Amino acid sequence: MLSRLPQHFTALVIGASGGIGAAIIQQLLVSSNVGHIIAVSRQSLQSNDERITYLRLDVSEQAGRLKLKKAVAAQPIHFFFNAIGILHDDALHLQPEKRLDQLSADALAQVMNINAFTPILLLATLQDSFKGSHPTIIASLSARVGSITDNQLGGWYSYRASKAAHNMLLKTASIELKRLNKQSAVLCLHPGTTDTALSKPFQARVPNEKLFSPTFVAEQLLAVIAQRTPEDSGSFWDWDGRSIEW
Ligand SMILES: NC(=O)c1ccc[n+]([C@@H]2O[C@H](COP(=O)([O-])OP(=O)(O)OC[C@H]3O[C@@H](n4cnc5c(N)ncnc54)[C@H](OP(=O)(O)O)[C@@H]3O)[C@@H](O)[C@H]2O)c1
Repeated sequence: MLSRLPQHFTALVIGASGGIGAAIIQQLLVSSNVGHIIAVSRQSLQSNDERITYLRLDVSEQAGRLKLKKAVAAQPIHFFFNAIGILHDDALHLQPEKRLDQLSADALAQVMNINAFTPILLLATLQDSFKGSHPTIIASLSARVGSITDNQLGGWYSYRASKAAHNMLLKTASIELKRLNKQSAVLCLHPGTTDTALSKPFQARVPNEKLFSPTFVAEQLLAVIAQRTPEDSGSFWDWDGRSIEW
């Protein structure tokens, strides 16, 4: 798995407490050559595995991103996986909007900040770790509903718009990074509907066979990533290895 990466490669996983983020870390530990995983979350997490360093930080704020930069200390990152994202949050009074009259500037700004601005600001803050000549894979969780071409149903204004913005920002970074590291590959990924806190309130109408476990999704996504090369940088893929139109 991830055979393009060197033996004992360094991974940075953002959103380590999340359903998919935690499953990615488990899969990296069992089935790859990972040497060190820096795992970032707002929660306090622990592991007995010496290969993991957990950092408790809120990277949706600049102060958290700067602390992460200091901890990473410009070492080369071979595998960056962004698993943070928000669709609803009771504490922040966020629910996906069904109608125009449910939109608010605050909710739009919150969702944009977590889903679109935070991933790209992390790349900006940590760019010294991506520059150079080492293979580096930057994978970030998007969602199929962020595809403008695919939008037949409407609704979920802020989430859809934030994922479309995420994709544009990552695509743009892929072009700059190509110049800074020929071995870079920037990928936007759709995990499919996955049984996590994020999808919980919306699972009722999802058939059983279309509701995936985080472990299955992590295996699938890592297999999809493993098939990509730097020529694929700036593209959007689903869990099954099919490319998605922007
Ligand atoms: N589940 C699905 O069906 C599905 C479908 C399509 C796309 N996705 C995408 O997949 C990604 C992972 O989602 P998941 O299903 O694993 O959800 P999850 O279990 O709810 O995890 C979400 C992660 O996002 C972080 N997060 C949430 N709100 C935050 C905030 N206000 N500030 C900073 N971090 C915040 C949390 O980080 P901490 O570790 O700091 O708590 C958590 O690790 C998201 O980008 C989501 O949009 C999921």
